[in-house]
Amino acid sequence: MTTPIADSADLPTMTPLTALICPLDAQPLTRDGQSWCCVDGHRFDIARQGHVNLLPVQRKRSLDPGDSKAMVVARQRLFALGGYLPLAEALARRVVESVDTPLGGASLGVLDAGCGEGYYLRQLAHAAGQEGIILEAAGLDISKHAVLAAARQSRDAAWLVGTNAALPLEDDCVDVVICAFGFPVWQEFARVLKPGGRVVLLEAGAEHLLALRKILYRELKPARGEAGLSAAEAAGFTSESDVEHLYAGLSLASNEQIRDLLTMTPHLYRAEREGLARAEALSELEVELHAELRVFTSAIAQDKT
Ligand SMILES: C[S@@+](CC[C@H](N)C(=O)[O-])C[C@H]1O[C@@H](n2cnc3c(N)ncnc32)[C@H](O)[C@@H]1O
Repeated sequence: MTTPIADSADLPTMTPLTALICPLDAQPLTRDGQSWCCVDGHRFDIARQGHVNLLPVQRKRSLDPGDSKAMVVARQRLFALGGYLPLAEALARRVVESVDTPLGGASLGVLDAGCGEGYYLRQLAHAAGQEGIILEAAGLDISKHAVLAAARQSRDAAWLVGTNAALPLEDDCVDVVICAFGFPVWQEFARVLKPGGRVVLLEAGAEHLLALRKILYRELKPARGEAGLSAAEAAGFTSESDVEHLYAGLSLASNEQIRDLLTMTPHLYRAEREGLARAEALSELEVELHAELRVFTSAIAQDKT
């Protein structure tokens, strides 16, 4: 069964975050017609679809960094099946719960760092809107294909091509950073978070896509464990609560859907040829999604007061 997802028509509750800085000299950017400009004369044109490229060439590790167009298109088709919706809803719930005080119409500043085509940010805006919370939102991704796809689906957020390694955002400008299946850069998250701000992190759990991985690999790698979280601690973040394990089923009913799942994950490039051939020969597959949801508070952000 296809589960409906929120679309842009449902989302009058998001406005674009405007606290942008120049990726070349970190000066504030101001809007001048169809461009963002800094005092030093750097100018970044806003595309017809509404997004802006704030990724300077010296920050690019390749000509076309991040997810390819094919990965973005495959992910959009997979999201439309609805299997990832419980994960997006759980993330949204944790963000909405983290808003301590009644906002009385005030907005909640949110950055989706590594936003892909904007699925999680749109779902968050939908859930927040139901609680009367307006998001002042930016979605940022290093992939121009992903950001274009996001901008095409909603004009209500600031959609930015950029890198988590040097966020083109002012210090202390957001309440929450969400990072779903992404590449967190904790020092930068601490810099852009307001005092008491939070990071809501969604990462693949040990059983994520296990049925697919068993087909692809003769030997499964052990789970990454908690090791990746030491970077968060080193940047002064503390875990706010225990990890929440999320499980959801995804039914793939055709060879094309299995191919889409392979395309949107790193497995297409990592798996051995025999494993890929086994997966591509299937005409249906039931997989389980397993994600770990964590909320962090930045001690550094708190010290800014
Ligand atoms: C697995 S995808 C997740 C996308 C989205 N959060 C989702 O779950 O649908 C990882 C994303 O991180 C992006 N990415 C990779 N390196 C990045 C970086 N340094 N800064 C920002 N985004 C990055 C990729 O282009 C890709 O869209």
